[in-house]
Amino acid sequence: MSSTVSFDATDDAVVQCPYEHYRNMRDEAPVLELDGASLGRLNERVFAVSRHEDVKRILHDTTTFSSRFGGASAKPSPELMARLKEVMVDGWPSVSTLLTEDPPSHTRYRRLVSMAFTPRRVSRLEPALRQICETLVDDFGEESRVDFIAKFAVPLPIAAVATILEIPDRRREDFKRWADSSVAAIGRAITDDERVAAERDILEQQHYFVSELDARRDDPRDDFLTDLLNAELTADDEVEGGPLDTPEMLSIIRQIQVAGSETTASLLADLMVQLAEHPDEWERLKADPSRAPKVVEEALRWASPNQGLFRIVQEDTEVAGTPIPKGSTVWIMYGSADHDDRVFDDPEAFNPDRERLNSHIAFGHGIHFCLGAALARLEAVTALKVMAARLDTISVVEPESLRYGSSFILRGLEHLELDVTYQ
Ligand code: HEM
Repeated sequence: MSSTVSFDATDDAVVQCPYEHYRNMRDEAPVLELDGASLGRLNERVFAVSRHEDVKRILHDTTTFSSRFGGASAKPSPELMARLKEVMVDGWPSVSTLLTEDPPSHTRYRRLVSMAFTPRRVSRLEPALRQICETLVDDFGEESRVDFIAKFAVPLPIAAVATILEIPDRRREDFKRWADSSVAAIGRAITDDERVAAERDILEQQHYFVSELDARRDDPRDDFLTDLLNAELTADDEVEGGPLDTPEMLSIIRQIQVAGSETTASLLADLMVQLAEHPDEWERLKADPSRAPKVVEEALRWASPNQGLFRIVQEDTEVAGTPIPKGSTVWIMYGSADHDDRVFDDPEAFNPDRERLNSHIAFGHGIHFCLGAALARLEAVTALKVMAARLDTISVVEPESLRYGSSFILRGLEHLELDVTYQ
């Protein structure tokens, strides 16, 4: 399909408001070749796939479309690689695990991690999450102006993952620094010095978790790390392989931390903006907090905090009539798919009562479906219920100055100041 549509994921105007661009792509160039370098994929042919139907088909066909895209950060130069290696002489190698693996290796990881990250373990967190949310709102201190991202959206997901990983209070600040460093280079350009500093934090985190895992080898507990350590495949599993070794466990812990922090923070911030902009929805939520799951689901669709990820094409193929050669990278655009009017009526509207609410793919689809979806949902629903019980009115201070950060993978507001009154 020849078209005049162009798309630059690094253009600030696009970052701030991508949806019109996405619509043009879906309507006129559902498979659009992009400049690979602009997405940190140097010397690669990159094709952006924007329609819901095509994205879902790709997610199902894990044979043609491999997840071995090697990470979502730009590849380091040889000089930077040497500096990073120097930091890591005293560390453990980073191992490609869940997100960046294909079956059967992915199947083994997913099975073993699922034995530790169980629905029961997530649902048991609810009282702790409620308490964390209450404390964070207490910390607003009856101020009318609230820096929502710093005071709520960022700390809640970090506290949630820290609770799962049993990080003691005295190490929570370190954990936050490690989490920030782990996401620093995802989908955005940072300097070499920043990348090296981030690597030092990752090394520090590795040492911390190796000693925590060692402690559980000697003295097992009823917790996630102990279950991760002891997870073993059985004859009933569709896949073979041994238990997780130390580099694998460290990489999985890091992936949970990376995948669970900024995404959920962005969801919480966009959720509050939507409620502030739709006072009728806010009033209905206060009167009936059981609406919270619907509101969260619509915010997931609307915001799609993970806007897109990559797949590597294993054999010559075509998508929506466009040939894509073997070796190309495909950018699967969750953010565009979730605004596709072939699936969602009036997609730019925020409407928790819409039809096909659950057709969104903000958590992906198929074998890589977000491992933390239940946790992210629980955090957001708990947060909303606490907000609805504690706050009376909410509005955004200077809505015209809201800005999204520059990552084309993790879409989230940089800053959000709310004006609130209390009940
Ligand atoms: C609103 C919050 C979140 C969003 C929007 C989100 C989005 C996603 C998406 C789109 C994928 C699929 C990637 C693919 O197809 O390649 C994914 C996978 C994943 N997510 Fe999430 N996520 C969120 C929260 C979390 C949380 C809280 C955790 C963990 C505590 C988590 C852990 C993971 C992991 C480990 C994977 C890889 C799963 C696999 O490859 O089998 N995510 N997430």
